[in-house]
Amino acid sequence: MINKIILKYLLCFALIYSCQDNSKPNYQYMPNMYEAIGYDTYSESDAFSNGIEAQLPVEGSIARGWQPYDFPNTNEGYELAKAELVSPLDSISDLTQHTKNGKELYGIYCAVCHGSKGDGNGALSQREKFLGIPSYADRDINDGTIYHVLMYGKNAMGSHAGQVNELERWQIAEHVMELRSDLIK
Ligand code: HEC
Repeated sequence: MINKIILKYLLCFALIYSCQDNSKPNYQYMPNMYEAIGYDTYSESDAFSNGIEAQLPVEGSIARGWQPYDFPNTNEGYELAKAELVSPLDSISDLTQHTKNGKELYGIYCAVCHGSKGDGNGALSQREKFLGIPSYADRDINDGTIYHVLMYGKNAMGSHAGQVNELERWQIAEHVMELRSDLIK
């Protein structure tokens, strides 16, 4: 009796198994799971009214950790920053840590062009890879203009707003002004 049952199962199994053909796709019970549509990032999509998948942030939204900067990227904006933009570090009595950070960041982001002394004689300038790098001594700059130039860049110098955050920009500005006062001594 048991033998008969086992035999029946074996037969059933053989029957099902023999239907499988490895050279062809087997039954697909939910075909869209086997053949999912591969969407590419930023590809076209009709899910949104503007027809692209990646959406811009809502107007007026501010990225986390990012402070809006209201001085426009114009000559007037530059002059306004010079006159009105004040470093929050000015009100701090112990600047030791900030100047230390500023020096370190300057070494990473600025010295290749401006030189560690700020005389415009960095490695890229020496190798003539980059021209027109000024000495800080020859520019009428202050904390405000440095911050402004870090935000927007200036002519051949690119913006550094993406590399350093708000506090770091002020720390760097502090260091640049120190270098400048050493240069004009
Ligand atoms: C790729 C080279 C390069 C790098 C890197 C660079 N700069 Fe400059 N920078 C320049 C050049 C070129 C100018 C001259 C721009 C002009 O006035 O035409 C300049 C100008 C300046 C000025 C004078 C702007 C003015 O108001 O006249 C300041 C201040 C300054 N850079 C600070 C920095 C600081 C701080 C960093 C690092 C965070 C930095 N730069 C990184 C190339 C560079």
